[in-house]
Amino acid sequence: MNKRIYMVCHGNICRSPLAKFLLIKKLAEKGVSGIEVDSAGTSGSHAGQQPDARTMANALTHGLDTSSHRAKQFKSTDFAKFDRIYVMDSANYSDIMLLAMNEEDRSKVELFLEAAYPGSKDSVPDPWYGDEKGFEKVYNIIDKACGIIADKLKKGEMP
Ligand code: 4NP
Repeated sequence: MNKRIYMVCHGNICRSPLAKFLLIKKLAEKGVSGIEVDSAGTSGSHAGQQPDARTMANALTHGLDTSSHRAKQFKSTDFAKFDRIYVMDSANYSDIMLLAMNEEDRSKVELFLEAAYPGSKDSVPDPWYGDEKGFEKVYNIIDKACGIIADKLKKGEMP
């Protein structure tokens, strides 16, 4: 059966689209099939937009084209559509938990970096207000974590 993974951040234009593209890339490289990956934002203020220009430009320096992405807002009906919901930071975690209707919904939500590094409780920093260096830092954090998550998915270690 397919596993469906949802990457969630605030605007769905910086961190979560990157996490979606990078996890899809790692899974393909590692020959893992049967996993669908999508992304959304807790806010709808950028709905319909491409990733932030700085995210797209930085990803391109790593050979990753994210321009096909269009932002969308997380909806409470999405809980039923996904098996795991990986949120980028603790504010996203609180926002998504408020939308959860029951324990099953809540059990699907986890910090993205917690999934890669159990016990870390770390957030992926929000690069929106920072400079180019912040986008490079975020790329590297997400790239590394997606590699670890893809390895765990390959070994069947993820819930
Ligand atoms: P993201 O970054 O949550 O990683 O997509 C942000 C994008 C937009 C805003 C904040 C963070 N904003 O305030 O509009």
